[in-house]
Amino acid sequence: MINELLPTLTTKIAALRRDIHAHPELAFDEHRTAAKVADYLEGLKLEVHRGIARTGVVAKLSLGTSKRAIGLRADMDALPLAELNTFPHHSTHKGKMHACGHDGHTAMLLGAAEALSTLRNFDGTVYFIFQPAEEHEGGGRVMVEEGLFDRFPMGMVFGLHNWPGMPAGSFGVTEGPVMAGTDRFEIELTGRGGHAAMPHQAVDVVLAGSALVQALQSLVSRNTDPLAAAVVSVTRFHAGHADNVLPESAVLGGTVRTLNGELQDALELGLRRVCTGIEATYGVSIDLRYERGYPPTVNAPDPSFIAREAARQVVGDGQVLTHLAPSMGAEDFAYLARVVPACYVWLGNGPGEGGCMLHSPHYDFNDEIIATGIRYWVRLAERALA
Ligand code: NI
Repeated sequence: MINELLPTLTTKIAALRRDIHAHPELAFDEHRTAAKVADYLEGLKLEVHRGIARTGVVAKLSLGTSKRAIGLRADMDALPLAELNTFPHHSTHKGKMHACGHDGHTAMLLGAAEALSTLRNFDGTVYFIFQPAEEHEGGGRVMVEEGLFDRFPMGMVFGLHNWPGMPAGSFGVTEGPVMAGTDRFEIELTGRGGHAAMPHQAVDVVLAGSALVQALQSLVSRNTDPLAAAVVSVTRFHAGHADNVLPESAVLGGTVRTLNGELQDALELGLRRVCTGIEATYGVSIDLRYERGYPPTVNAPDPSFIAREAARQVVGDGQVLTHLAPSMGAEDFAYLARVVPACYVWLGNGPGEGGCMLHSPHYDFNDEIIATGIRYWVRLAERALA
């Protein structure tokens, strides 16, 4: 029974979590963390694969005869942030901090690997996926590019993030979009510079750029379903440096946020179309650089059902919220979720007092939720591979 295991296991995992917290490592540089993870998994006699996407680790636990397989994923990287906490396990790596709780995610998944290999109560394969570089560099994308799902075929994949502001140990399991896709763009307009008093001899990029900013706002207000969420924000506009000179060029930049891939495609196309229209209207030439960031994270129906039921069995109906509004923040788990049916849940980290919010220098993962997190992973695997 998991109840017999948990007290000792939770104490051990909390100590490990604090050790990881004290030694944070940034994207693709999680060497110490990855070695700890891989050693722990080898200690459980699992088949362990190191060095996927540089520091990523995957471990395999197969039981019974079923061909079914699922993946459970945790992230290992920290943030470039100076920790302001003074408790004994504060960061010893200057300018680096586990301010998003990935130390807790990693430790809890190790605890789940130990519990599942001890209890041996499922039929199929569980892959434990420890990914690097969730915060900025897209470690999940690199793992997929390096053949994560070819080497380790699985029918579903699951992720979890602690969520300050939600009661400790409660769950948020929402089907559909849960985190936004984020793209960025830079637009360079080239016209013909000239005397401000003789505009007919110039091609004015300030006017064209202003029209462009206005026209881009029509992409959301006129081309997007009012019930779909999207944001187009122009955040930079640089041009000129004298009152009597029309500048030769202007540069604009900004971000696009969406909650589904089709809308992400549509907005990129729309942006290109508007730029072409502005070129024709104002006689400028436009160079648009559009860069895709993390795709939206979208929870599929079947894994969401399993995750919801597992969470309910662990903490009870009243502690599982199922219709939370999505966050317009982004999540690298999306690269896994767009290949394999997936569910990404939020686990309440507690009220966020004293600045204990994600990416805050006062943040800390709440060790009180470790037992709940382990129970959830175990129940989830047992349910998906019953
Ligand atoms: Ni995070």
